[in-house]
Amino acid sequence: MDNIYFIGFMGTGKTTISKLIADHLNMKWTDLDDMIQQKEKKTVVEIFRENGEEYFRNLEKEVLKDVAGKGGYVVSTGGGIVIVDENVKIMKESGLIITLVASPDVIYVRLKDDQSRPLLQVPNPLDEIKRLMYERAPFYIKGDIIIDTSFDEPEIIVGEILKEIEKRKNGKGTC
Ligand code: S3P
Repeated sequence: MDNIYFIGFMGTGKTTISKLIADHLNMKWTDLDDMIQQKEKKTVVEIFRENGEEYFRNLEKEVLKDVAGKGGYVVSTGGGIVIVDENVKIMKESGLIITLVASPDVIYVRLKDDQSRPLLQVPNPLDEIKRLMYERAPFYIKGDIIIDTSFDEPEIIVGEILKEIEKRKNGKGTC
């Protein structure tokens, strides 16, 4: 069975929404950041600080390949996974990609007191959110389904996603 991959910027709700979708569809769930942390026995913050971003990106690709080879998972990915073309190819070939989006202001409010995102520990996080989002937008739009999580409650968003998945199963989708 194919995987379902959740991609999107930090703070768009990938973890929460993907877990709910896995429950609804009775599929297994995993989070690539968790897999990396377990593998390295370090937090993402420690990996970025001690080994650098490139090292983290290599691990990210490794764990993605692991889960792509298994199938049947709903996968919550890290926001930067899309910057590596090969990762997008791996996801496209092994499942359905769902992109979650939210406005920079909403993301800023959701993450302003969160120290677990190394890329946002900068003097002006809102500017950095806008800059990174602009840079990554061409990759995020490669998702098969794109859903805005800025305003609705998780259960509403999950309902929308389930409807979209159902349409695709019935051959009414575009992918
Ligand atoms: C990152 C997003 C994070 C995590 C790491 C890098 C990014 O995951 O992988 O801090 O480059 O956007 P979340 O999107 O789950 O926060």
